[in-house]
Amino acid sequence: RLASVEQAPPDPILGVSEAFKADTSDLKLNLGVGAYRTEELKPLVLNVVKKAERKMIEKDENKEYLPIEGLASFRKATVELLLGADNDAIKEGRIATVQSLSGTGSLRVGAEFIGKFLPGTTAYLSNPTWGNHRNIFADAGVEWKYYSYFDPETVGLDFEGMVKDIREAPEGSVIVLHGCAHNPTGVDPTKDQWKQMADLCIEKNHLPFFDVAYQGFASGSLDEDAYAPRYFASRGIEIMIAQSYSKNLGLYGERVGALNFVLSDKETATRVLSQLKRIARALYSNPPVHGARIVAEVVGNPDMFEEWKEEMQGMAGRIKTVRQELHDHLKEIHPERDWSFILRQIGMFSFTGLTPKQVENMTNKHHIYMTKDGRISLAGLSSAKAGYLAKAMDDSVRN
Ligand code: LMR
Repeated sequence: RLASVEQAPPDPILGVSEAFKADTSDLKLNLGVGAYRTEELKPLVLNVVKKAERKMIEKDENKEYLPIEGLASFRKATVELLLGADNDAIKEGRIATVQSLSGTGSLRVGAEFIGKFLPGTTAYLSNPTWGNHRNIFADAGVEWKYYSYFDPETVGLDFEGMVKDIREAPEGSVIVLHGCAHNPTGVDPTKDQWKQMADLCIEKNHLPFFDVAYQGFASGSLDEDAYAPRYFASRGIEIMIAQSYSKNLGLYGERVGALNFVLSDKETATRVLSQLKRIARALYSNPPVHGARIVAEVVGNPDMFEEWKEEMQGMAGRIKTVRQELHDHLKEIHPERDWSFILRQIGMFSFTGLTPKQVENMTNKHHIYMTKDGRISLAGLSSAKAGYLAKAMDDSVRN
């Protein structure tokens, strides 16, 4: 009966990791998935995470189910980290927060909510966007369309195109926005452009849905990186925000994150939360406890919080260093080409502009694994390998 099931294509990002694993060359380098590596190209578990885990063992914590909406101390800490502890919406109880399965799970619960309570609403995604956004909305039965975002000519933001498309979207559309460190382009709107975007969302009664997966990784400041959702909330707009702790706390495999709704009054928040619980219960029942306890411990404890910020700046700083080194190597070996875009881009990635054919050359000839859209994860690059990457890129653009 199931013999007619067709083979699904490999995932555009995680499929790259599968291909990397299968490669036996010593030269191989995985710049596909956005996962932090040390200079030795090893995964990193932060000290604050180890400390929090030791505390959990000392406390002899049990493994009981969490409530459907997640761990109370995590939910308090996560929304305060996102919006600032003195935020009016928090004080007024106008926020509905559910702990969910990192960024993806939080987005999916949000997409299910849109499908159920705003049927027929289209979600607008930036062109390009993170490879999983399309599937998340499509699988939840929400139609999606693109809005213009990236201008390959300037390797910058096509703000005019973005405004035009969002203005032309039907009133009340869902607009998916990357809170900071846009994935894959590394190109963010300026503060002034965010303000104009908020005006536009008010004018068109759109529902902004922020994906905040890199808080702390763009500017190095947790507060600065939360500028956009905080600003929108301050304008009294109803917003949705998905959060992930995969990158900034390195909790990739723990699947810890949250979905927050900032609403206009407390009663609406209570009702929305009840519906989010209804959705989560049928999808995965209740979220995992381990990562939530780590976040609650680190974010909720002032000493640990300071230590975390230092460790996070260490990661962000190493990425900035290899970004500069890659740029310098390329400038040296291929000076006729303008590589300055690499330095202008922010976050974990560089959007290189390599074509799918050039990406094939990077992988087949140089054993460098990256996504087909030309994105490289600088978090997976070491100073030692920056020269090798630059040579491979130079070879690929010349062919
Ligand atoms: C990425 O874009 O590489 C990360 O967000 C990891 C993922 O789940 O795709």
